[in-house]
Amino acid sequence: MHTLGKMSASRLLISIIIMVSASSSSCMDGKQMTQNYSKMSAEGNISQPVLMDTNAMLCCPPIEFRNLIVIVWEIIIRGQPSCTKAYRKETNETKETNCTDERITWVSTPDQNSDLQIHPVAITHDGYYRCIMATPDGNFHRGYHLQVLVTPEVTLFQSRNRTAVCKAVAGKPAAQISWIPAGDCAPTEHEYWGNGTVTVESMCHWGDHNASTVTCHVSHLTGNKSLYIKLNSGLRTSGSPALDLLIILYVKLSLFVVILVTTGFVFFQRINYVR
Ligand SMILES: *[C@@H]1O[C@H](CO)[C@@H](O)[C@H](O)[C@H]1NC(C)=O
Ligand SMILES: *[C@@H]1O[C@H](CO)[C@@H](O)[C@H](O)[C@H]1NC(C)=O
Ligand SMILES: *[C@@H]1O[C@H](CO)[C@@H](O)[C@H](O)[C@H]1NC(C)=O
Ligand SMILES: *[C@@H]1O[C@H](CO)[C@@H](O)[C@H](O)[C@H]1NC(C)=O
Ligand SMILES: *[C@@H]1O[C@H](CO)[C@@H](O)[C@H](O)[C@H]1NC(C)=O
Ligand SMILES: *[C@@H]1O[C@H](CO)[C@@H](O)[C@H](O)[C@H]1NC(C)=O
Ligand SMILES: *[C@@H]1O[C@H](CO)[C@@H](O)[C@H](O)[C@H]1NC(C)=O
Ligand SMILES: *[C@@H]1O[C@H](CO)[C@@H](O)[C@H](O)[C@H]1NC(C)=O
Repeated sequence: MHTLGKMSASRLLISIIIMVSASSSSCMDGKQMTQNYSKMSAEGNISQPVLMDTNAMLCCPPIEFRNLIVIVWEIIIRGQPSCTKAYRKETNETKETNCTDERITWVSTPDQNSDLQIHPVAITHDGYYRCIMATPDGNFHRGYHLQVLVTPEVTLFQSRNRTAVCKAVAGKPAAQISWIPAGDCAPTEHEYWGNGTVTVESMCHWGDHNASTVTCHVSHLTGNKSLYIKLNSGLRTSGSPALDLLIILYVKLSLFVVILVTTGFVFFQRINYVR
């Protein structure tokens, strides 16, 4: 009884040490900017968002290498046969089944490091990744639901008379658009692309409101963004060079007329004065 308590205590200590060292190194480091979103579910599956084009690392359970028999990574990506990467300690051999993606590899030789790396993360890497460690005491699992994030491209422009359009193009998942101040908005449009990205578009009108500047706020898992635009009340329409030219011409002409009149007036006054 006493020895058993002592043994589990030392094992616990080892686990803690391994966990601490693991979190300060590879798989939980700052390169995965989204690590703070990770949520450990009660069952032990981890929801892991990762930014596209970054380097992602997934960890196995913190089991002491000494106690290992076999390590298996199971990778399930929709539309692909499930891939398995296995390592048997006794023979120091690795074996792969159905794995074709060269971007998904062991971080190092599995006797050094059992973690999995995806380098670089592509939009097609959404899926379930599970590490299974077989020990004499049983199997230990750690599963990740990997969600690839893509930053949307945000644009804001005035389309018509006090009407602005804000777009978050090809983001994953869909972004959320809000306005300050609130305008008179058409229902937000979502356009779904084949690669899993979504373009979100919101168009609002500030007819009665006397706001001169409006702000479009785009909130997204990859970071929020705000853009603002000045609303013109008059005729002026962005995206119409001919009209802009006309306005410029009109302004120049008016200025010319004003100068002419002023000069004429001054001249006239002088003549009066001389008389
Ligand atoms: C993670 O998020 C929490 C709040 O949800 C915050 O207090 C903490 O500082 C964040 N950690 C990092 C490393 O950003
Ligand atoms: C973890 O997720 C996988 C894949 O969705 C699921 O099959 C499994 O049941 C989950 N594991 C637990 C312990 O809930
Ligand atoms: C390999 O792919 C085939 C076909 O999709 C599948 O039946 C088999 O279970 C896969 N093997 C492993 C080890 O996942
Ligand atoms: C296991 O094999 C790798 C090469 O595949 C080698 O670098 C490593 O030293 C071997 N480890 C042991 C413990 O034999
Ligand atoms: C996804 O598809 C859209 C539309 O074809 C494209 O604009 C976008 O660049 C694609 N994104 C990625 C990450 O492939
Ligand atoms: C501009 O907005 C006002 C107020 O909503 C509206 O009455 C008017 O018809 C609009 N003009 C054009 C050219 O869209
Ligand atoms: C218009 O702007 C003025 C000053 O900024 C403000 O006091 C007034 O409430 C505004 N009117 C409307 C209808 O928003
Ligand atoms: C992004 O915006 C959303 C909604 O406006 C907010 O809940 C969230 O805290 C913001 N995130 C950051 C990192 O500012």
